[in-house]
Amino acid sequence: MERIIMDVDPGIDDSLAILFALQSPELQIEGITVVSGNVEVEQATRNALKAVEMSGKKVRVYKGMPLPLVRPYQDATDTHGVDGIGENFYPPPKTEPEKVHAVDFIIEQVKENPDELTILALGPLTNLAKAIEEDSETMRKVKRIVLMGGSATYHGNCSPVAEYNFWVDPHAAKVVFASGIEVTMVGLDVTHRIVFTPHLREIVHQLRTPLSQYVYEITRFYVDFHWKQEKTIGCVINDPLAVATLIQPELVKTRTAFVDIETEGVAMGQSVVDFEGRRNQGKWNTHVCVDVDPKAFFQLFLHRLFPEHQEQIQIGIDKHHW
Ligand code: RIB
Ligand code: CA
Repeated sequence: MERIIMDVDPGIDDSLAILFALQSPELQIEGITVVSGNVEVEQATRNALKAVEMSGKKVRVYKGMPLPLVRPYQDATDTHGVDGIGENFYPPPKTEPEKVHAVDFIIEQVKENPDELTILALGPLTNLAKAIEEDSETMRKVKRIVLMGGSATYHGNCSPVAEYNFWVDPHAAKVVFASGIEVTMVGLDVTHRIVFTPHLREIVHQLRTPLSQYVYEITRFYVDFHWKQEKTIGCVINDPLAVATLIQPELVKTRTAFVDIETEGVAMGQSVVDFEGRRNQGKWNTHVCVDVDPKAFFQLFLHRLFPEHQEQIQIGIDKHHW
C-alpha cells in the first residue's frame, strides 16, 4: 500500500488521474491538494471535488496556491475549457474543500508521517515549493515525489522545450528538484505516447454507465483541442500515467539523471536533464521515464476505472491496433 498526497490542477487528465487513483487499492490517498494550473484554483478545487464525487469515494480536498511563485499565472483553458473539464458546465459539487490550506496540510501530514508519504504531483509545483520553502526540514521527510512534468529529449508543449507544469511555475519546479527529495519525472517523453484514441473512447462510451459517460463527456473538448492544435486523433492523457507508475512501475523504463530547471529567457521552463553526470560530479536527483508500454497502461487504466466491465474492456483492448 503506497500512502500518497495527490497535488492536482483539474484539468481533464487530472480528473481521470483522480478517478484512477481512487479506484486502485494499492494506493491510500491521504488527501488531494489543488493548485492553479489548467484553471485557477477555485475552479480546479470544484473540479477535484466533482471527480471525487463521481468516484463514489471519500477523500478530503484542500485548496492551495492561486498564483505561481514569481511568473504571472497562465491558465490552459484553451486545452481544458473555461471550466477546466471540457465545458460541460456540470452543477457545482455537493461537497466543500477543507478549511486548512493545502500547503499547511502537506507540511502537517509529512511531519506526522515521516518517510511514509509519496507526493504525486500532477500540476504546477507551487504548493510543493511553498511547503519546502516554509519547512524544508520537515519536507526532507517526504518519501519521494512522483510528478507529471518536464521533457528530457522530447519537445515541449508550451514552447519548443518547456512542458506546461514547469513552464507555468519554473521557480517552483527549480525548488522541488533542488530540494534533495528523490523525484520520478513522468514527462512528455513517455506521456505523449498515452493517446486515448477514438477506438478506446468508444469502448468507454459503450459501457453506458454514469462514470463512463462522465469520462466520455469531459474528454470531448480535449479531443477537439488535440486535432486543432497538433492533428492528433484522440487526446493525450498525461496525468494518469504518473498514477500508473505507482501501481505498476514496470510499465515505464527510467534512467537516473541530474535535473535542473531554467527559469529565465527563451528556454524558460525547460527541464535540463543531465544523464551523463557532466555537472554536479555525477550526482543525480531524478529517475527520468524514458520508455513506456501504452497497451499495458490502458489495460491497467481501463480495468481499474471500470472493474465491472472486464470482458468488454479486454475485447476492446485486444482489437486495438497498438
Ligand atoms: O503538460 C501537461 C500537464 O499540464 C498535465 O498535467 C496537464 O493536466 C497540465 O497540468
Ligand atoms: Ca495536470
